[in-house]
Amino acid sequence: MPVRTWFPTEIYCEPLQAAGLAKFNAELIDECRNLRDYDAAGRKWSAKNYPGGYTSYASMNELHRFSSTFAGLEKKLLRHARDYARTLEFDLRGCTIRMTDCWVNIMPPTAAHSLHLHPLAFISGTYYVATPPGCSGLKFEDPRLDRFMAAPPRRTDCKPSHRAHVTYPAEAGNVILFESWLRHEVAANRVDDERISISFNFNWS
Ligand SMILES: [Fe+2]
Repeated sequence: MPVRTWFPTEIYCEPLQAAGLAKFNAELIDECRNLRDYDAAGRKWSAKNYPGGYTSYASMNELHRFSSTFAGLEKKLLRHARDYARTLEFDLRGCTIRMTDCWVNIMPPTAAHSLHLHPLAFISGTYYVATPPGCSGLKFEDPRLDRFMAAPPRRTDCKPSHRAHVTYPAEAGNVILFESWLRHEVAANRVDDERISISFNFNWS
């Protein structure tokens, strides 16, 4: 075929580490739930902006600076972010990649997270801490969607890379990284248990 593919959208998905995930996640689950109990401002903000769920996004969003458990997570995630940045072939010689934000999301049944992107960062991502079977995944949208205008719909049997959306299942222990401009959402949690994740942003200077 005389056709080549350009301008790829690359998404990274890997286990955080090879072993010891269950113990590390058990620690994180406790810490996330304790944070919710402690963070009255976050609960208040979530009641208005994250119905049914809890997020520390607006109240405690630099957790890696205040908790040794989260600082440990930052260190592990930084390795993945560096690998991902290398794959994306960014020229970061002489620059430092830093985690700027890190916050907790707890989604009980019915909680959802509508379509959004992460401004003021270049790599963003999520680490999955507790993912009850059947909980919602992370759904990404084709970033060119608003420019297709007169394009016909794709065939239903088209290859995955031609689809307008892709959903990565939420799996405890996995890290998903994406470029911060890529819009994504989490559909309402339909299972009878809490889905817990930690989201974060990286910047460079
Ligand atoms: Fe997000």
